[in-house]
Amino acid sequence: MYRRQFCKLGAAVAGTLAISKAVMAGGLFKKTSGNKWAVVFGSECGSTKEYANAINEGLGGIAEVIDIEKSTPDVNDYDFFVIGGWRNGSSVKPNNITAFISSNKDMLKDKIKGLFLVVGNNGSTTLSDDITSFLKQNLITPAGVNDDIGKVFFGRSEPACNGFPMAYDNVDPEEGRMFGQKILADYTSTRYSASGARTGLDLSCSSRMLGRNTIIKYSLPQAGNVLLTVCSVNGQRLATLVSKHQNAGLYKVTWDGGNLAPGYYLYRLQVDGKIETKTAQIMK
Ligand SMILES: Cc1cc2nc3c(=O)[nH]c(=O)nc-3n(C[C@H](O)[C@H](O)[C@H](O)COP(=O)(O)O)c2cc1C
Repeated sequence: MYRRQFCKLGAAVAGTLAISKAVMAGGLFKKTSGNKWAVVFGSECGSTKEYANAINEGLGGIAEVIDIEKSTPDVNDYDFFVIGGWRNGSSVKPNNITAFISSNKDMLKDKIKGLFLVVGNNGSTTLSDDITSFLKQNLITPAGVNDDIGKVFFGRSEPACNGFPMAYDNVDPEEGRMFGQKILADYTSTRYSASGARTGLDLSCSSRMLGRNTIIKYSLPQAGNVLLTVCSVNGQRLATLVSKHQNAGLYKVTWDGGNLAPGYYLYRLQVDGKIETKTAQIMK
């Protein structure tokens, strides 16, 4: 039962539960995009590897998942990267991860779509300022990217593997999938938004909870043929909310996404060739 839903723009918020089959149908996205994606990671006891694979699932399986300790990718061979490692004291491990970022900084800057860090945090799953600033200092700033593409995941400690006396397991693959989905949603919405050209269309989504209903607002600077749709993160149309000629003005539409699985979605406004697309999240 999904308690609430909301739309948001920008930074990632943790989501839960499985992604719908339609969204996970990576094949559809593969057909619509010739871009090559890589999820690059390093892992000692396996939790970072699990997150890397979950992120790729969220991406619809379009990426190559590369263990940097087995092979170092050539930046020229890929269009987009998601890169992550785990925390050991004051550094990100393995060293190859930070070395890969710093030695390819200029080329990677526009290709990095996500950076992630797996932490033990003494078995706690509370995100502190210390962890956020560690992520920023050790991955975000060296890569020269925006804060909102970074993500912290909670890992595990297995005495048999790392020799620590403390045992815990906070690995949550769903968190990884949601991060991958959000990366794909942001990427797809940028692609669909007319190369960032100013369209004059103002599209937004209310964060007010109205049961399962969310209000999408838009304004039209002039009359036109309006198509307002909801799509999966790979661009597959899931619902048509408006399809008619409308005069200039402000409009509101109620979207009931109650039948959709929690996760990321796109809502897209098309008016006579102009397109605006935004990212929406449905929470559990
Ligand atoms: C030697 C060592 C040092 C660690 N230092 C930290 C630390 O400073 N802060 C933290 O939150 N977690 C720390 N951890 C926990 C790891 O980040 C956590 O276990 C992570 O899930 C390991 O990733 P992996 O399973 O991919 O190897 C440390 C783990 C090891 C083995």
